[in-house]
Parts: sequence; C-alpha cells; structure tokens
Amino acid sequence: MKTKITKICCIGAGYVGGPTMAVIAKKCPHIQVTVVDLNTERIAAWNDKDVANIPIYEPGLSAIVEEARGRNLFFSTDVEKAIEEAQIIFISVNTPTKTYGKGKGKAADLKYIELCARQIAKISKDDKIVVEKSTLPVRTAEAIKSILDNTGNGVQFQILSNPEFLAEGTAVTDLLHPDRILIGGETTPEGQEAIQALVDVYSNWVPEEKILTTNVWSSELSKLTANAFLAQRISSINALSELCEKTGADVNEVAKAIGMDSRIGPKFLKASVGFGGSCFQKDILNLVYIAKSYGLDEVADYWEQVIIMNDYQKKRFSTKITQTLYNTVADKKITFFGWAFKKDTNDTRESAAIYVADDLIAEQAKIAVYDPKVSREKILADLDYLKTRSQEENTASLVSYENPYEACQESHAIAVLTEWDEFTTYDWQKIFDSMLKPAFVFDGRNILNKTDLESIGFIYQAIGS
Ligand code: NAD
Ligand code: UGA
Repeated sequence: MKTKITKICCIGAGYVGGPTMAVIAKKCPHIQVTVVDLNTERIAAWNDKDVANIPIYEPGLSAIVEEARGRNLFFSTDVEKAIEEAQIIFISVNTPTKTYGKGKGKAADLKYIELCARQIAKISKDDKIVVEKSTLPVRTAEAIKSILDNTGNGVQFQILSNPEFLAEGTAVTDLLHPDRILIGGETTPEGQEAIQALVDVYSNWVPEEKILTTNVWSSELSKLTANAFLAQRISSINALSELCEKTGADVNEVAKAIGMDSRIGPKFLKASVGFGGSCFQKDILNLVYIAKSYGLDEVADYWEQVIIMNDYQKKRFSTKITQTLYNTVADKKITFFGWAFKKDTNDTRESAAIYVADDLIAEQAKIAVYDPKVSREKILADLDYLKTRSQEENTASLVSYENPYEACQESHAIAVLTEWDEFTTYDWQKIFDSMLKPAFVFDGRNILNKTDLESIGFIYQAIGS
C-alpha cells in the first residue's frame, strides 16, 4: 500500500536540517514538517519572533522561515512526539571526525546517528521511512537497519540514503534549484515504495530528470566522492599556485585557461589560502579511513594527499606573512579581513583563518579580526578549541573589531582570509593612511586589485602570482 506522506520529522536543526526542512515546508504546504533538536538554545533561536535572529545566516533563508513557520514548519525540542507522528524521519545530526578510540582523527563519529536510530526504534508504533540526510560512511544504513530491526515491536522500517549537496552561503538557491537529488534505497518492492514516497516529496519542485535513484551503498559513497572530487580540485589548483609563484605564471590565468576546456570546466578552481568548512576534511578523512579498513592503502594515500596539500597551503600562507615582514611578526598588529570559512556564512568550522591565526600567534603576533558575521566569542572559541595555548593567552593575542577601518589602524599588514564582497569596496587609501609603513596586503582569496593597491603604496601579495 502506498504511504501517504502528511508529516515529516527531521532530527537535527543545524546547517542542513534547518534550511532543508524550511525549503521542503515552503514547497510542500500540504506536509507538516517538524525539525527537532536536543539543543534548546538552537530551537529557541529558530522560534525567535524576530526572524532575523534564526541561528543560521543564509541569504534568503529568513524569508522562507517567516513564510512557513507556524503554518507547516515547526521547530521543537519534543523529539519523541515528532518521531511518533511522522511517516518520514530525516536524520540530519552531526557526524564529526572521531576524537577518541579506534579511527581517532579519521573515522566518522557515529554516536549521534546511533542515538537517533535507538530513539526512533523505541518510540515508533507504526511503519516509518528513515532517511539518512547526514553524510555517512558507506554501509552505515546496515547498522541503522540492524538497530531498528532488533527492537521486537514489529514496526517495519525502510532506510533511505538521501545525502545533501548544498553549500553554505548558497544553501537556499542550492535547495530550490539542486543539480540533482540522490535517493538510495533497497531494491525490494518495499524499498522501491519508500524511494517513491521521497521522490514524491521532492517532485513538488524538482524536475523528475534531476531525481536520481540508486542502491543505498552507491548513494552513501557518492556523497563522500562528490566532496572528495570538489576538494581535490582546490588542492590541485593550490598546489599549482606555488609553482606559479616560482615561475612567473599567474594561477588565475592558468585556472581560466584550463577551465575553458569543457572537460575540465571553470568551477572550483579558485586558488586560496586553503579550503575550510565542516565537511571537506572530515569526509575525505573518512574516505581514507574506509579505504584503509578494506586494505586499499594506495587508494587511501591518494585521497589523503588532498588534505596534506590543504594543510600545507594554510601553513605556507602564514609562513609567507612572517617571512615577508622581515622574518618577525612579534608584537606586530596583523589585521585579518574575514574569519568565516567562506563568504555569506557565519560558519567558521575548519576555517583557514583559525590555523593562520594560530601560527602567527605562535610567532607572538597581535591579531586584529574584522568579520561582518562572526562574533568575538566565536573567534576566540575557535582558537581555544585548538588547545595550542591557554585561553588567557589567546584573549591577549587577538582582538576583534566591529569596524574594518578601526581594525586596520596602526597595523603592519592585512591578510584577507574570507572573500566577503564588501572588502573590495573599502576606501583602501584611508586604510593605507592609517597603517604603519611599509603597509602589506596578503590576499589569501585573490579578490583585491593589485594595480590599485600598488598605486596607493601597498606591498601586495596574492596567492599564485
Ligand atoms: P550541525 O552541527 O549544524 O547540526 C546538527 C544538529 O544535530 C545539532 O544542532 C545537534 O544538537 C543535533 N543533534 C545531534 N544529536 C541529536 C539527537 N540525538 N537528537 C536531536 N538532535 C541532535 O551539523 P550540519 O552542518 O547540519 O551537518 C549535519 C550533517 O549533514 C553532517 O553529517 C554533515 O556532514 C552533513 N552535511 C553538511 C553540510 C553543510 O553545509 N554543513 C552540507 C551537506 C551535508
Ligand atoms: C561543500 C560542497 O560544495 C557541498 O556540495 C557539500 O554539500 C558540502 O561541502 C558539505 O558536504 O558540507 P561548503 O563546504 O559549504 O560546501 O562550501 P564550498 O563552497 O564547497 O567551499 C568549501 C571551501 O572551499 C571554502 O573554504 C571555500 O572558500 C573553498 N574554495 C571553494 C576554494 O578555496 N576555492 C574554490 O574554487 C572553491
């Protein structure tokens, strides 16, 4: 019998769960969507009367939340009720890299996933479709199924893999106009019926030809593979950026030249201070761990190199700053433009800025940060998380500013860590006038105009030229 979907529950109100469910609610007004989380503060923020205070900044998101919230979109801490009522349950909880035990530093930590599975198993009284929305190691569905099928309460579960491909900063556009929706399920009639139920949800706004169905394992592995390929392009161009600096080639020109080859394509070829974000590193490390666990050492080493190159690129940037500033940054004020891992997001997870700051503080630099969306508390928490030095030392070494011009006063150098558009529109003459001389700019995102800055008097260094 075909399941009629009237209620969806999503466990995890984070960067994926929140925006994804908001878009489903917008496009499917006939379905009640409830997003639940253990984090009461986060849920309270999603429910804040002033929609500007929702916990995630994404262009276009607050308008969608405003439209659907209270109509068919709900945020709640009552996890049990939402699970009990829903026909489809998305699991969208965090799957960080393990920080303990076997696989520490590489494998995905699945404890939150398992907790969800156990809770679903305990509460469910009728048949459910459970959807892996989180990024998971290939064959995780097997473990989830085993937990769900061994509760003895006779409920039938179908597990689907439906990985999310949105990028932060463009989450709403990506969700409204996805390149594809991937749904993996069992090949049994019940599995196919579950797949169809989820296809029917997405087909409210996604053209049918963009909805791809596969077996569960292909879907799980495709998500890790997509992130690995994307990150690999960045590490590839970043590797070449150093060669460009040595040879007089310009990495932007090289990227353009190769990107015009339709087989290569122009996207994801921007050389930078290194990729950040919560997923590229974690997912590649996970892929490396899985390959190793099957004894595929060459496969593992191949992908690990993407991470090694990225770490090198971040280190290379901080070393270049120190070397250029006459081999010492001790007690020198260095201004960071940007802390987020990319523009148009307040997310700082694994941002290159954190590691560059940590290196420079180790050299006793004084860091001044201006980021339009990231708070001082978050910046310091990111540094403290590395546990390189005491909280007091970090607090004494880093100041954040609400105003970019103040952040630059009496500074020796500016380092651009995030490609926020506003940085290109500043009065750079005014900035130059307020800095110590010689005034340096290290453009870790290649967004500023070299000729303009040099004509003002800056010593300007970009990545890869
Ligand atoms: P997040 O940390 O922002 O959100 C996860 C939420 O789950 C947290 O609010 C946490 O409190 C909640 N949670 C954890 N365990 C819970 C439980 N047992 N019950 C209820 N709530 C629980 O994470 P995220 O960035 O949204 O990522 C979620 C998953 O999606 C990860 O697997 C990630 O790899 C994947 N992903 C993320 C992105 C991205 O852009 N951030 C994109 C694609 C895929
Ligand atoms: C990435 C993928 O693009 C999404 O498809 C995926 O769903 C997501 O990871 C995930 O699984 O979490 P995200 O990390 O949000 O999305 O953002 P990206 O636009 O991919 O940027 C990642 C990092 O790479 C950023 O630090 C960005 O500045 C950097 N980058 C990106 C470059 O240095 N050069 C580029 O050409 C592109």
